Amino acid sequence: MSNRTLIDFGKLPLANTLSNSKGDVEKTFPLIVGFDDQTKLVSLTENVDAEYLFPNDYVYDSSQSETMIKYFGDMAEYLESTFTPKTVLEIGSNSGIFINGFKNAKTIAVEPCDNFANKTNDMGIKTYPEYWSMELAKEIVKNDGKQDLIYSANTMTHIHEVDKAFEAVNECLSDDGVFVIDGPALQNILKYNAFDQFYHEHQSYFTCTALSNILNPMGLVIVGVNKTSVHGGSYQIMIQKIGHENSIKFGMDLGDILAEEQELGLDSYGGLKIHFDRIRVHIKDITDQIASLNGSKVVGYGATAKFTQICNMCDLDNNNIAYAMDTTPDKQNKFIPNTGIEILPFAKDRIDSVDYFYLGAWNYAEEIFKKEHEYIENGGKFITHVPEVTII
Ligand code: TYD
Repeated sequence: MSNRTLIDFGKLPLANTLSNSKGDVEKTFPLIVGFDDQTKLVSLTENVDAEYLFPNDYVYDSSQSETMIKYFGDMAEYLESTFTPKTVLEIGSNSGIFINGFKNAKTIAVEPCDNFANKTNDMGIKTYPEYWSMELAKEIVKNDGKQDLIYSANTMTHIHEVDKAFEAVNECLSDDGVFVIDGPALQNILKYNAFDQFYHEHQSYFTCTALSNILNPMGLVIVGVNKTSVHGGSYQIMIQKIGHENSIKFGMDLGDILAEEQELGLDSYGGLKIHFDRIRVHIKDITDQIASLNGSKVVGYGATAKFTQICNMCDLDNNNIAYAMDTTPDKQNKFIPNTGIEILPFAKDRIDSVDYFYLGAWNYAEEIFKKEHEYIENGGKFITHVPEVTII
């Protein structure tokens, strides 16, 4: 498999590994994005061990956001009423807000982080506290039978050998079953300048072009693609077994998406390189913007994995960013790795003293602007780099 480099970000700390003390120096790993000539998949060329990436105190919790609670609840309701599956499996179930939304189906969760696996177990959902693999797929088929609906949000992109993960899904999927993957689309990452989504946990960045090249030889086919605004622009991709496609219309046709991707140059190294070369310019724009605000109090809004990337890619530290604020208790009083930037809980006096909030959680911009209307009405400003570096 040939893998040509699209961009080398150098060595960076892991985006979700927060430091306990200001002076801690976290381990760094190379972050290089490459292109596979055969499948056209864009993925990281270096692999970090899963134990480093997903420790048991993993901090991402989807139930911390009203937007995500509503999104996954609606998604479960839509899929249950459209496909009336008897059995549903979620791979990477996190805090359970999707899988818990099914009313009539028999549900199973797969989640390797113990804290979340315990949570879904406590909700009464049978949970396998393991990484997704062919071995696990076979065990599930043996214990629980094949599954009518398999759903996976923001998880397939985290798996190193994604082709093997898809083989395991194929093993577990009933003949007329539906497999839905939900996650950021490379198209939008590049179009909306969301390069902070490149981090070690995200092994692959999907196009339908690459997915078709990987899935078709296994006997799987994309039957529909829905575009959503989640995480700055995601695809919900519906996949079925070849020869068992049903007639339910799900978003756009594959042909239209493939044509769109070709037009954007996402199906060739040369086309992609043009997009990736622009990232360097965006990084400099952010660095210049922050430097120009010297003397003002700039604070991170949302200590997202993405904000860790922005700080480390743009060399920002506690000299430029006074602190960050985040609602997640597990993140509070910790530090953004290798920056000395402390994460604090939200408090009115802390908000009032801020000149500029750097929108670390830009994927929730609408929710945040609504919540912070008082700060905005009092002249407070936000900085974002999505879809371009601007002060709002
Ligand atoms: P998330 O969307 O998971 O981004 P990433 O995958 O890059 O980590 O994280 C959103 C974070 O933003 C989460 O830690 C909660 C925080 N947050 C706030 O602090 N306040 C808010 O109003 C919202 C919407 C999110």
